[in-house]
Amino acid sequence: MNTPSWLKDAVFYNIYPQSYYDTNGDGIGDLNGITEKLSYVQEMGFNAIWLNPFYDSPFRDAGYDVTDFYKVAPRYGTNEDFRRLCSEAKKRGIRVVIDLVAGHTSLECEWFQKSARPEKNEYTNRYIWTDSVWKKDGSKYISGYSDRDGCYQINFFYCQPSLNYGFYAPNPEKPWQLPTDHPDCIETKYELWRIMEFWIELGADGFRVDMASSVIKNDENSKGCIQFWQEFREKFDNKYPECVLISEWSYPEHAIEAGFHIDFLIHFNLAAYTSLFRYEKATNVNEAWLGNSYFRKEGNGDFQAFFKEYVDQYEKTKGKGYISIPSGNHDIPRLSFRRDDADMKAALAFVLTMPGIPFVYYGDEIAMRFQPDLPSKEGGYYRTGARTPMQWQSGKNFGFSKSNTPYLPVDPDFNTPTVENQQKDERSVLHFVKRLIALRHRHTALQADAAFTLCSENYPLIFERADEIENVVVAINPSDRTYSIDYDGADILLSENAYVESEKATLGSRGILIYRKQMNIAP
Ligand code: GLC
Ligand code: CA
Repeated sequence: MNTPSWLKDAVFYNIYPQSYYDTNGDGIGDLNGITEKLSYVQEMGFNAIWLNPFYDSPFRDAGYDVTDFYKVAPRYGTNEDFRRLCSEAKKRGIRVVIDLVAGHTSLECEWFQKSARPEKNEYTNRYIWTDSVWKKDGSKYISGYSDRDGCYQINFFYCQPSLNYGFYAPNPEKPWQLPTDHPDCIETKYELWRIMEFWIELGADGFRVDMASSVIKNDENSKGCIQFWQEFREKFDNKYPECVLISEWSYPEHAIEAGFHIDFLIHFNLAAYTSLFRYEKATNVNEAWLGNSYFRKEGNGDFQAFFKEYVDQYEKTKGKGYISIPSGNHDIPRLSFRRDDADMKAALAFVLTMPGIPFVYYGDEIAMRFQPDLPSKEGGYYRTGARTPMQWQSGKNFGFSKSNTPYLPVDPDFNTPTVENQQKDERSVLHFVKRLIALRHRHTALQADAAFTLCSENYPLIFERADEIENVVVAINPSDRTYSIDYDGADILLSENAYVESEKATLGSRGILIYRKQMNIAP
């Protein structure tokens, strides 16, 4: 098995295209806008970006409902703009990873429109349909859409019909459940491969696969999905060894076995992620921040709630693939919600020094705020508040767009952080993130593969990262208490509200200290 060589030092930036930068004044961010901002991305130290979907779509789920997988949505530009974005990124050493909505399409997709016809055609089995409009087979089936006598299965919203890659264990009493080796299911898989090749040829460096564990139905402990993706990994190893496969699975043990190079540890399947940054038991956004997540200045969280699950997943995947703990994404409230800048620095210091691959969600590098009260936009619901326009500078729409009706309203508070005001302030979150990323690039012991050892129980958090060259200690105090810890360093790499005096170090409120313990080889 092959791992793209650039991953060991990759630091990703997740860009939501519609909200990043609008170059033609229609109020919606576009691909040319991302190209224009690549110098900013590079200056920050990011060497890879993940773009949320930009395919043609009716946008009932913000583009996760694709009409044409081979075409950039006109509101974002053209395929040629994408090619240019990739080549400009390449010049700056930035890899471009795109979203692959592998499991479903929009209702408007031509394949679905043909599949919905009553007469048999080449797309009849492209989606999963029961054999009678009166047979729903569970809540994920929609009836009465067209004259085809059957109900179609969905993956997410009603408008996202599931593509048919087959059932792991088809039920013989339900003949419409096709096995994964049925020629029509294999044809769906080939189509997915063609889509991937198409974008790689245009310049993409890999894919973040949406709902990766949903492709095979009636699956038994993900066995079918694991087999399915292993085939893609093999193709990648042979044909595109420098391209990356990233999964939205949130179960690294399975995702890495399936052949993904990286899996996100996020808000579902495991409780680890929410216990760090969000409240474990929350079922909605209003509860989500009232609890005891670890990175809060109240300091009443439980690191072990994260660590138990994390270390298990880490041990099982070490040397085979990477776990990513993102700062956030377009599906969850922003990290800054009910956190001040000092809290943000503590959380981001963690995200950027852990093993695996760090991902920073656009705007988190300036502690952009979550907007909890926005009306839903394009199927966003509470997620809408985490998708507002990037704040570049003072003035109209904070520099996002010249339009009077931007895609989403910008933060109404004129004191809100912008790139411009944070660039001027050495103590800003932006400068802190930039320093951390630079540190990670400089020290292999802080990168993806270096060893990880936890050295503390709960507060403060102390862990060691080490490789053959050096041992680096990361000490983070997410609470507003003060701690005194032992110091056995050779030199300090970064300190934030922390002081060293001979063999002791003081971590003040949200204090952070990163130091080199020893060199393992003569310098
Ligand atoms: C993933 C995406 C989310 C989308 C869903 C359906 O979870 O991140 O935004 O709504 O899949 O495609
Ligand atoms: Ca635009």
